[in-house]
Amino acid sequence: MVALMPGPCDWPEVTSVRSTLRGYQPYTGVVPDLTPDELLSTTRSVRRRLDLDRPVPATVIDECLSLAVQAPTSVNRQHWHFVVVTDAPRRAALGELYRRAWSDYARGQSPFHDRPGEPGPAASSRYLARVIDRVPVLLVPCVEGRPEGGANAALAELYGSVVQASWSFQLALRARGLGSVFTTYHLDYEREAAAILGIPYAEVTQVALLPVAYTVGTEFKPAPRRPMAEVVHRERW
Ligand SMILES: Cc1cc2nc3c(=O)[nH]c(=O)nc-3n(C[C@H](O)[C@H](O)[C@H](O)COP(=O)(O)O)c2cc1C
Repeated sequence: MVALMPGPCDWPEVTSVRSTLRGYQPYTGVVPDLTPDELLSTTRSVRRRLDLDRPVPATVIDECLSLAVQAPTSVNRQHWHFVVVTDAPRRAALGELYRRAWSDYARGQSPFHDRPGEPGPAASSRYLARVIDRVPVLLVPCVEGRPEGGANAALAELYGSVVQASWSFQLALRARGLGSVFTTYHLDYEREAAAILGIPYAEVTQVALLPVAYTVGTEFKPAPRRPMAEVVHRERW
């Protein structure tokens, strides 16, 4: 999947991507060789199949981030930042915020109490809230700037400059046998999360929290989606 330009290259940023990836052997047999279409259609939101016990090497995260920053940003500002959290006390503190926000949305429920018969997506969400601090890596994508009071164009520019890279990161994870889920619950407590991570809240916006782990098994299927006819508008709405 990782198509890098062959031969010498004078662009420093490309050189640095290549040096980060040098020595990496993709598809070690853990992940089947996915075509681009398979990768795009089977990169799922993974919660219950995150392997909480298998360590994630820092080099794998670095590789995926090096690919992620090939995504575009508005006016090529590259004003994104990615906070990689592996330290257990910080994961615990972030997990606490996530659980608090999850519980707010769940009208005070505790993620530690299962509800028999709960639909799959809700049970999966509850499970993640329960174990999020045990996921080996928590990644917080951020962008320079604040959204408060911004016009739609400014907000699109702000979030659009880091969401695309975040998705590339998730695709790169999947290509290596890892999984993640784009989550936003903790942003209800963004200020508290900024304090935990030393992020300058007044200047930098957090956009998500991605729990990252190897997946239990590597088979994932395309998900059901609304019919294309409902969402695609040709020539006009
Ligand atoms: C902007 C955004 C915010 C999300 N926030 C959360 C979240 O806080 N917690 C969570 O468990 N999933 C979150 N998700 C994941 C979705 O709930 C859902 O799992 C996804 O749309 C369907 O996943 P699938 O592609 O595997 O079908 C979020 C997804 C997006 C795009």
